Amino acid sequence: MCGIVGFVGREEAAPILLEGLRQMEYRGYDSAGIAVRSPEKGLQVKKSKGRLQALADLTHNGTDVSGCLGIGHTRWATHGEPNDINAHPHVSENGAIALVHNGIIENYLEIKEQLARQGVSFASDTDTEVVAQLLEFHYNECGSMLEAVGRVLRRIEGSYAFGIICSDYPNALIAARKDSPLILGYGENGNFIASDVTAIIKHTRDVAYMNDGEIAVLTENSIDVFDSEMTPLEKEHSFIEWDVTAAEKCGYPHFMFKEILEQPEAVRKTISPRIRDGRIVLDDISLTAEYAENISHIYMIACGSAFYAGSVAKYVWEQLLRRPVEVVLASEFRYSDPLVDENTLVIAISQSGETLDTMAALREAKRLGGRTLAVCNVVGSSIAREADDVLYTWAGPEIAVATSKGYSTQLAALDLIGLYLADLLGSVSREEYDEILTELQVLPEKMQQYLEHYEETQYYASLYFNHDSIFFIGRNLDFAMGLEGSLKLKEISYIHSEAYASGELKHGTISLIEPGTLVVALGTHGPLFDKAMSNVVEVKARGATVLAVTTEGFREKMEKTADAVIAVPETHRLLQPSLGIVPLQLFAYYVALQRGCDIDKPRNLAKSVTVE
Ligand code: F6R
Repeated sequence: MCGIVGFVGREEAAPILLEGLRQMEYRGYDSAGIAVRSPEKGLQVKKSKGRLQALADLTHNGTDVSGCLGIGHTRWATHGEPNDINAHPHVSENGAIALVHNGIIENYLEIKEQLARQGVSFASDTDTEVVAQLLEFHYNECGSMLEAVGRVLRRIEGSYAFGIICSDYPNALIAARKDSPLILGYGENGNFIASDVTAIIKHTRDVAYMNDGEIAVLTENSIDVFDSEMTPLEKEHSFIEWDVTAAEKCGYPHFMFKEILEQPEAVRKTISPRIRDGRIVLDDISLTAEYAENISHIYMIACGSAFYAGSVAKYVWEQLLRRPVEVVLASEFRYSDPLVDENTLVIAISQSGETLDTMAALREAKRLGGRTLAVCNVVGSSIAREADDVLYTWAGPEIAVATSKGYSTQLAALDLIGLYLADLLGSVSREEYDEILTELQVLPEKMQQYLEHYEETQYYASLYFNHDSIFFIGRNLDFAMGLEGSLKLKEISYIHSEAYASGELKHGTISLIEPGTLVVALGTHGPLFDKAMSNVVEVKARGATVLAVTTEGFREKMEKTADAVIAVPETHRLLQPSLGIVPLQLFAYYVALQRGCDIDKPRNLAKSVTVE
């Protein structure tokens, strides 16, 4: 979704802003713009609908726009269609104040009407322009930009990250945040703001995360941060561990492909540091055996693929903990008056740590007195900071919109926590604990093993890419894994796809199977393999073409019935989805490739959904 970058320092701002926006392209956007201030030219604003290249062309790669203070933005339209006028930055009526904004101002219409009554005219349809005009109104009234920002923040409702520059303040960049991420970057030649660390990682890895209600004033030599009462604050610095190559394609055709191949390493980084002397050590989280004993109910809340990771974990945790686990879509949980009390453990799963629905659901769980634990990939993200505990997945930056290593590391992290809790509760035998732990540690090798021979998946994608509708069927963990496999396929290849629990076929959905329908039959869950086979026979009898995914051990049996078989290495039955998902990701990838789709930036989708 929208991206913000800002710079004040001793270098030309425009190239830095354009490069920063380029690094955030992956988030999805439909227009882009920059505002730069120079002593000679004053405030210069350039905006363009469409790809960032259009803005780069418009400004001759930034050379037409001079000055060492500036803000930039990629917009993902919410209020008003994507066009040059609605693109950010928005400028106040007198042209002195420019502002970029991520988030949504909920009471903008009311403010707009009030300002219009006072004679202010508006150029765009956006909520953001209203804030620029309101800022000018208060600035005219009080004469201090900082004071005016404070007044505006008290008046507006909704979510925001702002970057603001003003002609009267040639050396200052002002930033503010509430419910939308904003990072401060401390550089050698100046200072930065960014909504996503990838935008500034080339310049600095020394950052601080702004909290809700904070306002920052950046100059080339300093960053001063204030709370909402304008009391100065000391910010804790964080060091970004990964380097710039982690967010680059490095010769791979797509980020998604690179990220699929990075899974063994990402899973290893998530698991290995947390296993010492044959035991799971979760220094990061503070759940005690006493608390675990009192857990009456567990919720997993998440959206999209993270929800599907939770759907796998539900089966795993219920097996291990013998406690009820409910996986609820965060967007439903927040409005469902959920049954949460102090004995409820709520796991919020989010790669970005910024998904608005998951954030809101987490807050609701906390408000009701539940204990919250976040599984997040982005250090310092909002969900990670608001949860009582956080366990990071160490996947590194995920750039492709469709998640792969984000999902795999969520599975690994949830397996770890589940096994850890089961150990605290004594609900798993020592033998099984050891067996699962050993298998967890060799998961990366087994993933790698499959990834070295994935050509058959590529081949089957070339056979089946022109189907209009593809069904995934499976039972138990295979069903949960199929949900993610089906989502991967539909989001990047635009093929209609559904995942069904195989046992449900007879209850209605088998009517959709007709000669030639492609069914991806999942049979990796050993205990239910025979039942998976029966379902293959059942759909074959109705004329379906079956592509089966199973384990090496069952390959031969499956080959007797299915039209095509992909096999992955075997592991503990509870961990099998971590291996089974890899061919499903690659199948989706190669099908999308055959269909000529924009794999890293599928239509209508954005990375990190920060609006409801
Ligand atoms: C699908 C995908 C999305 C995300 C969902 C939640 O490939 O990436 O479905 O899983 O938007 O995002 P996070 O995990 O960042 O909360």
